[in-house]
Amino acid sequence: MTGAAVLGGLGSALPSRLVTNEELSESLDTSDAWIRSRTGIRQRYWVRGESTGDLAVTAGRHALKSAGVDAVDLVVLATTTPDHPCPATAPEVAARLDLGPVAAYDIAAVCSGFVYGLASAAAHIEAGLVDSALVIGAETYSTILDPQDRTTSVIFGDGAGAVVLRAGEAGQCGALLGFDLGSDGSRRDLIVVPGGGSRARTAPVDAPPAGRYFTMQGKPVFRHAVERMAQSARNVLARAGWTPGSVDSFVGHQANVRILHAVCDQLDLDRDRAVTDLDRVGNTSAASIPLALSRAAGEGRLAAGDRVLLAAFGGGLTWGSTALVWPDIPAL
Ligand code: COA
Repeated sequence: MTGAAVLGGLGSALPSRLVTNEELSESLDTSDAWIRSRTGIRQRYWVRGESTGDLAVTAGRHALKSAGVDAVDLVVLATTTPDHPCPATAPEVAARLDLGPVAAYDIAAVCSGFVYGLASAAAHIEAGLVDSALVIGAETYSTILDPQDRTTSVIFGDGAGAVVLRAGEAGQCGALLGFDLGSDGSRRDLIVVPGGGSRARTAPVDAPPAGRYFTMQGKPVFRHAVERMAQSARNVLARAGWTPGSVDSFVGHQANVRILHAVCDQLDLDRDRAVTDLDRVGNTSAASIPLALSRAAGEGRLAAGDRVLLAAFGGGLTWGSTALVWPDIPAL
């Protein structure tokens, strides 16, 4: 057997403020019926004063406890909403978790960030650079949403999910069975926060400031999400030697229930194999897959020995997939 990165712990964190569709309908020209029927979202959680790092620390602590460890060699934090443009949020999270002087860095791949983070940490483990890693997806999109924009405000939620990876064997439950990652920067315009980066700052000082809010062209994003996730999933299934029909649970990026169902249709996978968490938390970007895993494992939807397929899609554009046989771990 060859060395592999093995899932050994799982944790999550949600902010305390529950935001219902009805609440959003009071300030926006929208309705619970529209949001539910077009997205599948019933509610989401938004921070009240907490930061992305705060949520990451809580989810990370839960994942370490779930794994039964108090140390790891590496922290990878996937986020589009870091605590500051500089420095990265991961070192502070590592320090607050008392992990010592470990390597720690952020990954920015928007909604694909968690799968990119898993791939990065797994590569470190497989190369023998580290023996263990904490991979966290954490977001506070409520801090970059335009409260007047009904096309984005109703979709996104805040939260964090985390896993511990350990060095192990390719044949054991929890081993990550390969990755498919990709990008298409020619369509970076589809999901953008225009202001705050180096391009916006090179504008003349008398130019109007670039927008700081998140913008998205929903329709083309929807089409790309379905095509890219389905193709990426096919690639990783081929690598794992699995047929789509042998997948017990498909944990896709929680953008829209119609996207998850369309990916299932393209893969010829029963729609009931798709794990759905967006009804509870909305689209939490890099946190969406580990949050969905936590919920599904906590509710007994994922059982030890199940074949689980993960597929993500996000701004960039970026996408990524991996597969594993579910291990016997608690979700905290
Ligand atoms: N409430 C009520 N009406 C809304 C609305 C809201 N919150 N948001 C948009 N609408 C309106 C539009 O203005 C449009 O009205 P018009 O026909 O008068 O112009 C109508 O609803 C249809 O809009 P459309 O954009 O065609 O809807 P849609 O069925 O494509 O659904 C999304 C919109 C955003 C839900 C859908 O495109 C989507 O989920 N895209 C992927 C988004 C995503 O999660 N991306 C994250 C990164 S992966």
